[in-house]
Amino acid sequence: MPHDENQSHWHEPGKDQKAGFGKFGRPAMPYDTFMEAEGIPVYRDIGIQRVQDVPLKSWARLGGRGSYIQLYGTEGLWGMYVVEVPPGGALNIERHVYEKMVLVIEGRGSTDVWQEGQVKPQTFEWQRGSMFAVPLNAFHRFVNATNSPALLLCGTTAPNMFNLVDNPHFIFNCPYNFAERYAGTEDYFRPKDDIAPDPVRGLAMKRTNFIPDVINCELPLDNRRSPGYRRIEPHMAGNRFYQWVGQHETGRYSKAHKHASAAVLICLKGKGYTYTWPEALGMRPWENGKGDLVKRQDYEFGGMVSAAPMTGDWFHQHFGVSKDPLRLTAWFGANNSRARKPGVPGEAIMDLGAIDMKKGGDAIPYHEEDPHLRMEFEQTLAKEGAQTRMDPRWYDEKTAAEDQPKDLF
Ligand SMILES: [Fe+2]
Repeated sequence: MPHDENQSHWHEPGKDQKAGFGKFGRPAMPYDTFMEAEGIPVYRDIGIQRVQDVPLKSWARLGGRGSYIQLYGTEGLWGMYVVEVPPGGALNIERHVYEKMVLVIEGRGSTDVWQEGQVKPQTFEWQRGSMFAVPLNAFHRFVNATNSPALLLCGTTAPNMFNLVDNPHFIFNCPYNFAERYAGTEDYFRPKDDIAPDPVRGLAMKRTNFIPDVINCELPLDNRRSPGYRRIEPHMAGNRFYQWVGQHETGRYSKAHKHASAAVLICLKGKGYTYTWPEALGMRPWENGKGDLVKRQDYEFGGMVSAAPMTGDWFHQHFGVSKDPLRLTAWFGANNSRARKPGVPGEAIMDLGAIDMKKGGDAIPYHEEDPHLRMEFEQTLAKEGAQTRMDPRWYDEKTAAEDQPKDLF
């Protein structure tokens, strides 16, 4: 039968051929198409030194200027954007069937939140360093009554929803009230400071929907990533979106550990850099002559880096090189962090990122890391006029063992 040459048609492969193109471009997912259609930039890279410097464009849907940010490795896992609330203005009212975390990068303002049928919106005020969650599908509006712009960094589960239902009308116009997450309770956005063990890993957690100042708030001792490391998991608005806030002491750096993609580390205090490299480069990439394949991102407040910017497990290691401690918040989206991925309920999971490689974990102890890292860290600190507080005993296997916090098993 004759066929139209303008239409693609199927040819069965010959005996010595395989079907298909063999090599092809990855198709855009519904969320990619949605971002492009919004007419603002889509920033894609392994990280950003300062999100304050990302070029913004007028964003008709939100009524401010903004840019999407999709760091490598996070595609489809969760979404991010930065938006400016104009001075003396407000963004458009929004409601959406995806979760949203907000970190205030610059400025001051307030948010109105209300549920369908709620007579009076709830209003809470925020400033640089405030972090909060907008409850799922609640109406909300960001207001800036000051005369300078406010900059908000938002993390969302929008990609998950878009790539599943592929229908913006449903996502932005769904009438359902998730009352189990938000019912307009009077103290909903009042900060809560009670600390409890999180139900999955037993790490320090607080259930609060608003943190007024995540840059300076108290953090309990954790000791897992570096000696003196402090950490809290804020559980917000009944979200599946997971995040934590951690801090390395001044003059110290994290051990490397490896895992697959999802986490983006956002700098809240101090400045520094992150190295990230695929596990195939080994524990000592510089010594192995592969240092040029290691990726580096420098950052300061508002900067960020994708912990594992490509497929597979990536080692990553964070270095604070200022007189301030290095405080980071890590955002993972929903159901992506290793301890919270789907699997057989009840199966045993170990906290591999906090256990050394030799003991079956995924962390490189200081005494086994590439010597390049310590040398460069000490040189960088000296240039900044800061002192190393890394104990030489941690670089010797025998004394390191004596000094290290004990594993739980
Ligand atoms: Fe990590």
